[in-house]
Amino acid sequence: MPTFNEADNIARLIGRLAETLAGIEWEAVVVDDQSPDGTAEVVRRIARTDRRVRILKRMGRRGLSSACLEGMLATAAPNIAVIDADFQHDEALLPDMLKALRSEGLDLVVGSRFIAGGGTGTWSAQRLKASRLASWVSHLLVDVDLKDPMSGYFMIRRDAMEPAIPHVSGVGFKILLDLVASSPRPLKFRELPYEFRERQAGESKLDLLTAWQFLMMLWDKRLGHMVPARFVSFSLVGAVGVLVHFVILSLLFRTFGAAFVLSQAAAAIGAMTGNFLLNNLLTYRDQRLHGRQMLRGWVTFTLACSVGAVANVGVAAALFRGDVGWFLSALAGVVVGAVWNYAVTAFYTWGRG
Ligand code: GDD
Ligand code: MN
Repeated sequence: MPTFNEADNIARLIGRLAETLAGIEWEAVVVDDQSPDGTAEVVRRIARTDRRVRILKRMGRRGLSSACLEGMLATAAPNIAVIDADFQHDEALLPDMLKALRSEGLDLVVGSRFIAGGGTGTWSAQRLKASRLASWVSHLLVDVDLKDPMSGYFMIRRDAMEPAIPHVSGVGFKILLDLVASSPRPLKFRELPYEFRERQAGESKLDLLTAWQFLMMLWDKRLGHMVPARFVSFSLVGAVGVLVHFVILSLLFRTFGAAFVLSQAAAAIGAMTGNFLLNNLLTYRDQRLHGRQMLRGWVTFTLACSVGAVANVGVAAALFRGDVGWFLSALAGVVVGAVWNYAVTAFYTWGRG
């Protein structure tokens, strides 16, 4: 069970599990990413008297997919289910999932909203559309025949999961799709219908920006072996930065008549700051910096990119002197600068460097 701020749901859900799974041997692993509402403490209190319950608390990291993965890897159980902690997934389906897994020789059972008997309850037309769009995109890019590839509710055999683990992306929030697409052999699966319920206490953690993470995960699955999705995201943000640069420059220099060098410097700082914020929001959403970390992040990012700019110009100048055409020289400079910026900021700005 992945949790972020589910203190008001988790105890009741564990209670419900105990009822639903009566007669079955089970353990619950709650993976919490430092929820400020004290979810981990609630689980710890239960775990002190119930050994079937465990808490895995992760520090300085966020992300639904990676939380699910780490939880799945933390148990020795032969069959592993992933279920949200907000009651949206119907826990009463778990025994049926297990029965199907065992009796039909399946690798995977998926809780599905989009087959007969399933449903999305009170979803708005807009959310339905978004879900459909995401399913459609994933069908385009990843070869899986699931009616509900966006589902986050499933049960998988450990021996079917393990071979996929080295290939998963772990970025974003679509762990099922990631696992299925990463499996070296096609998984034998079945979908079981359930009605997606209203969230109980608290609020959803997934917003529009997680769509970016979804695309990154799909890129990783399709093309990640050539260019990592994070680098693509970083480069796209960089391209936006060029636009930002020119907007600031033309405002200061053309509209307000400031000196060129001053305008150019301000534009560069503005663009770097914009890039830092965007990368923090999109590229490194799972390692996002907050509060006071932001200042250190901004300083390291700006320093790294300044050095990157010098390297960029140096490489381009050297090639140009060596009679490589202006375009290729410039391109090589840009690539070297981008790779430098990416590698250094991955380590110093968003890593634990
Ligand atoms: N550890 C951890 N870290 N848990 C998280 C994080 C995180 O960064 N973000 C969300 N969670 C937990 C929540 O606490 C909840 O238990 C579960 O993951 C799902 O998060 P919600 O915020 O409730 O997401 P949702 O309701 O919008 O999305 C759900 O519906 C999708 C189907 O439309 C998720 O279940 C998706 O997996 C599912 O595909
Ligand atoms: Mn939810």
